[in-house]
Amino acid sequence: MLKWEEYIMGKYKEVLFMKIIICANEQELDRKAAEELANHIRRNPDTVVGLATGGTPVGMYKQLIDMHKNEGLDFSRAITFNLDEYVGIPYDHPCSYHAYMNDNLFDHVNISRDNINIPDGLSESLEQACTEYEEKIKSVGGIDIQILGIGHNGHIGFNEPGTPFDSITSVVELTASTREANSRFFDSIDDVPTHAVSMGIKTIMHAKKIVLLAKGADKADAMAKALYGPVTTDVPASVLQLHPNVTVFVDEGAGSKFPTK
Ligand code: F6R
Repeated sequence: MLKWEEYIMGKYKEVLFMKIIICANEQELDRKAAEELANHIRRNPDTVVGLATGGTPVGMYKQLIDMHKNEGLDFSRAITFNLDEYVGIPYDHPCSYHAYMNDNLFDHVNISRDNINIPDGLSESLEQACTEYEEKIKSVGGIDIQILGIGHNGHIGFNEPGTPFDSITSVVELTASTREANSRFFDSIDDVPTHAVSMGIKTIMHAKKIVLLAKGADKADAMAKALYGPVTTDVPASVLQLHPNVTVFVDEGAGSKFPTK
């Protein structure tokens, strides 16, 4: 059993160490986060990478594309698993996370299409697809490095407040605030799906390393609660305090509510 699982069961009280890097601006964050991931891939070309979508990692992906084109960063053996996908949106819909990943990374690097895994939000049997996703992650030895963003309500993946810490990949309902936040990518809020398939919190916590990214003052509250507040399912990202290997990259805005000494 892992220490964080013991903690949930009340056997282990100590909160573990996190490395927190406050960057001067978004560009610095993008570059440093890309370097962190690139170093893993250089050290171990077969790295299993967990990937996030949304606005936050776009700049990091640009940097990775640049490293591929100009420094020979080789993705050919890397295996990727995305955190989530909307239910019911065709893969070629511009707002699907399949399309997002193609546009922002996969079409521009030498990743093998066979090594790309994104939850299937179109399966006729979503539950079975979730089970298979979980099994596939296990079959490659688990995720080596997981990239995460954070929602304004502290969600990670699409695990909204109240999600049990032992959840695995499943169909989840999006909160009104998450649909509102993501409506900026759609024509109207009515077009934002109500459900998604998301890796669970346990799935995420089993990654060997986690890299959490947050940009902008609108994420400051969520980040302060996640890193310095109580570990609670009300703030899903707070579970990361129990993970033994987390690196956090924030810009000054997202780090602006961290407690000062
Ligand atoms: C995306 C994901 C979400 C986002 C979060 C922040 O795959 O799992 O948890 O990371 O909603 O989104 P942005 O970056 O758009 O603020």
